[in-house]
Amino acid sequence: MAPRPLIIDCDPGVDDAVALLLAFSAPDALEILGITTVAGNVSGALTAQNACIVRAIAEREDVPVFAGADRPLLAEAMEAGHFHGRNGLGDLEFPAPGKGVEQAGAVAFLAETLRAAAPASISIAVTGPLTNIALALRAAPDAAQGVREIVLMGGARSEGGNITASAEFNIYADPHAAQMVFASGLPITALGLDVTHQIRTNPARMARLEALGAARARAACQFLRFGERVEREHAGHDGAPLHDPAVIAYLLAPETFETAAAEIAVETESALTRGHTAVEFRLSKPSAARWGVRADADAVFDLIARRLA
Ligand code: BDR
Ligand code: CA
Repeated sequence: MAPRPLIIDCDPGVDDAVALLLAFSAPDALEILGITTVAGNVSGALTAQNACIVRAIAEREDVPVFAGADRPLLAEAMEAGHFHGRNGLGDLEFPAPGKGVEQAGAVAFLAETLRAAAPASISIAVTGPLTNIALALRAAPDAAQGVREIVLMGGARSEGGNITASAEFNIYADPHAAQMVFASGLPITALGLDVTHQIRTNPARMARLEALGAARARAACQFLRFGERVEREHAGHDGAPLHDPAVIAYLLAPETFETAAAEIAVETESALTRGHTAVEFRLSKPSAARWGVRADADAVFDLIARRLA
């Protein structure tokens, strides 16, 4: 089968970085048309630079990186550096990448690529706030025609939130953008904390990854080790959740996830529950959205180990 055309919209971020390494290591399955970056875990300037750093580690400088929105649509900007380190890459030091971002911006790239694409042909993986996607759909409503599906990391239902009691970070960071995207009627698969908290590192899983020799595997392990430290400090859990890698794992092996049709809407009005995802399985009308409910964590780690080997 021909590789699936894909755009990855991200805010690296240590777990975004692992997601990118996984995607870069699957050229037979994923044709990455471009990486678009957005402010989220750290500033827009840093997320763009980090995408270029990770691209260099993966030796995939054939893939263009486009810098995008550096603030949310309406909400006050916020970052999550305490979960990702001041530089967004776990405070690890990497050589400056030889190649930088493209001149065109992320929103223009998304709009033009999707508008010119064959109908329903391009998948979009989103591992950060949904600002770029909302801006592209607003600037070019006809761009929607090119979207095959959006697979995103975001939201929380049964798990509760990780940034407030009821909200997950990516949705909280730009709730208005998230609401616009969920309301678009496009086919969306949302993998929120309900599934990503099921996919955690443990000693056996890390030992297998750390035994791999490739530079991309070594970098992924450094990011995951940092993730384990902050998860223990800030959330009191053993094991780093693989939030963003879940999106790429889903695209590579959807059978390792269980999803259910749902209506999904985002709270934008209340300060108290900003970014809460209201996920309703009792459908009042057919929905193109699906909500992740279960993941086979062993299968996801097996996939990652085979791909990063
Ligand atoms: C999400 O928020 C970010 O901090 C992570 O990169 C992930 O995308 C998890 O809530
Ligand atoms: Ca992210």
